[in-house]
Amino acid sequence: MDFETKNGHLMWDGCDTVALAQEFGTPLYVMSQTKIENKLNELQTNFVDKYEKVRVAYASKAFSTLAMLKIIEKQGFSLEVLSDGELYTAIKADFPPELIEMNGNNKSLAEIEMAIDYGVGRIIVDSLQEVAIIRSIAAKKNKVINILFRITPEVSVATHSFISTGQKDSKFGIPIDPAILFPQVEQAIQAPEVNFLGFHFHVGSQLFENNAHLAAVTIALDLVRLVKEKFDYIIEELNFGGGFGVTYMDSDQPQPFNYFTDPMMERLLDFCQKEHYPQPAVVIEPGRSIVAEAGITLHTIGAIKELPGIRKYASIDGGMTDNIRPGLYQAEYTGVLANKADEPAIETVTISGKACESTDILIKDIELPKIEAGDIFATFSTGAYGYSMASNYNKLAIPAVVLVKNGKADLIVRRQNFDQMLANEIIPASLK
Ligand SMILES: Cc1ncc(COP(=O)(O)O)c(C=O)c1O
Repeated sequence: MDFETKNGHLMWDGCDTVALAQEFGTPLYVMSQTKIENKLNELQTNFVDKYEKVRVAYASKAFSTLAMLKIIEKQGFSLEVLSDGELYTAIKADFPPELIEMNGNNKSLAEIEMAIDYGVGRIIVDSLQEVAIIRSIAAKKNKVINILFRITPEVSVATHSFISTGQKDSKFGIPIDPAILFPQVEQAIQAPEVNFLGFHFHVGSQLFENNAHLAAVTIALDLVRLVKEKFDYIIEELNFGGGFGVTYMDSDQPQPFNYFTDPMMERLLDFCQKEHYPQPAVVIEPGRSIVAEAGITLHTIGAIKELPGIRKYASIDGGMTDNIRPGLYQAEYTGVLANKADEPAIETVTISGKACESTDILIKDIELPKIEAGDIFATFSTGAYGYSMASNYNKLAIPAVVLVKNGKADLIVRRQNFDQMLANEIIPASLK
């Protein structure tokens, strides 16, 4: 993992991480604005500026905060939300409604109503009941809603099964079986309350190969052709999802965005040329690949336990409550002692969390300099699905988040305090 040091300390976007830990406390999420912007600029240059009619919708589930949405808005990108909470965050960030698309495999009536009231640009239909629900709400409000269908493209991907989503047996999307999908399409074409734009897929996450994306594009284009043949209807938009992989471990070999987008666009443009089909707009929905590598988490080392001939454990002041991914799907991470970042590794240590679960192990067997209580451990690539999956298990507080850029640090999420944690709890009169 490449990183910069100064006076033996890990530096992150010009900031001394040990000083950040002192100023803001630990656990602490630290996000580099420069690294986020570099990813956005790469997408801008190699995708948005390169092709006609394409957009990037940041998948806000990866890291959804008001400040992050402002960075996305400044770039002029769109936003993908999946729940009322993510939509509410977008509303509070004054995100332009027409640039928001709403996903979700089980949107509630209230969520759909909220999305329609805010005027989101698109709702991506994920179940067989949803068109009827959208139509009835839209009719009441006298609105016409842009919709796409999320399809299950029935492709398998080379990633952990817990983050693959496009296989046939999936809770996500509508089966591509014409007997199931086409009555939905027909309804969407005919219904005056909706404007049927096209199809969406998302094949999975943390992918290093583009074959599943390409297979899914072919399947989506087959549907485009069939819809034209069967309904004489032109598809205006396709959404190719996210899923582009990032570096968690030195052995990971992520690809640039255009390794995915160029061949997908080539396949689409080829199709349009051969079939004399007007080019549909294309949207991609990256989340992890925009924020993961921009983020680190700082923890303070506490208890150290040496089991001779077995293992040495060093416990941090957080763990699965601020990063559930190792426990949830055996995700691997690496890191350094931020205050000894130039020192050579001399021992093998297992970094364990403080939650009351045996699976709360952040990193098994990492090589580190001599580890001592009070050291600051920095975990790399925690910018995606860390803060957004944080929990209050064991009544541990959700950590603060700082955004750093060129040596300047801004607090963008305050550390949760105990009163906030208990704010919604009530003792009924019978127990007083
Ligand atoms: C519909 C949809 N779009 C986009 C994403 C973002 O995926 P990633 O963070 O891997 O880019 C997800 C992730 O689960 C998703 O379900």
